[in-house]
Amino acid sequence: MSRILVENLNKKFGKDVLFNNFNLQIDSGEFLCIKGVSGSGKSTLLNILGTLDSNYQGKVSFSNLDLKSMNKREIDRFRAERIGFIFQFHFLINSITIKENIMIPSMLVKRENMRENFEHLVEELDITGILNKKPQDCSGGERQRTAIARSLINDPDIILADEPTGNLDSSNSKAVGNILRSLNRDKGKTIVLVTHNEYMSNYANRVVNLTE
Ligand SMILES: Nc1ncnc2c1ncn2[C@@H]1O[C@H](COP(=O)(O)OP(=O)(O)OP(=O)(O)O)[C@@H](O)[C@H]1O
Ligand SMILES: [Mg+2]
Repeated sequence: MSRILVENLNKKFGKDVLFNNFNLQIDSGEFLCIKGVSGSGKSTLLNILGTLDSNYQGKVSFSNLDLKSMNKREIDRFRAERIGFIFQFHFLINSITIKENIMIPSMLVKRENMRENFEHLVEELDITGILNKKPQDCSGGERQRTAIARSLINDPDIILADEPTGNLDSSNSKAVGNILRSLNRDKGKTIVLVTHNEYMSNYANRVVNLTE
């Protein structure tokens, strides 16, 4: 479990300054919601927190571990073990089945309760019936739920979710909301959620608006 600290973050794309001495503390076990208009930098911030983007100035640390002090190998391991990323666009691999897609992160990390976690996730996300299908033969919502199962298979302690309910109807959004809430409340996971969905943001302890 770890506290995430962003200190004096500066990030720009070309001449466009996205973050100018931006600071943020996310406590261990917090459920934080990030809001802001399109283009305000929500996905960029999540990519930085998720160790996918290291092209910034400033300091991002987990407990006292400064991301910039780690080499690529250490970062890859850290990400695989600690971070579950639910992307805005789900990036499933089309040539393999839903089940194989979900299991990909588990190849990098040894966990004892993998089987139980898998059974629980596919049940909860209502994808038991599509496990042997390929992503292109599934609906958008089914693919999104698959991507969510994949992000949680390694039992990460930090979950970064970028509009995870963007493609889902209200009952499936509710299921995703309930999963995130129970991971936070019952298991103490830290959740950083980008959403515009009122229902989802009601689950959060705190909302940070990037536009303000
Ligand atoms: N790789 C990139 N190269 C250049 N500009 C980029 C790149 N990635 C993002 N940007 C720009 O940075 C800004 C922030 O992008 P970002 O994806 O973080 O926004 P967002 O808040 O997630 O928006 P949305 O709600 O539409 O998903 C945008 O203006 C975008 O065009
Ligand atoms: Mg975005």
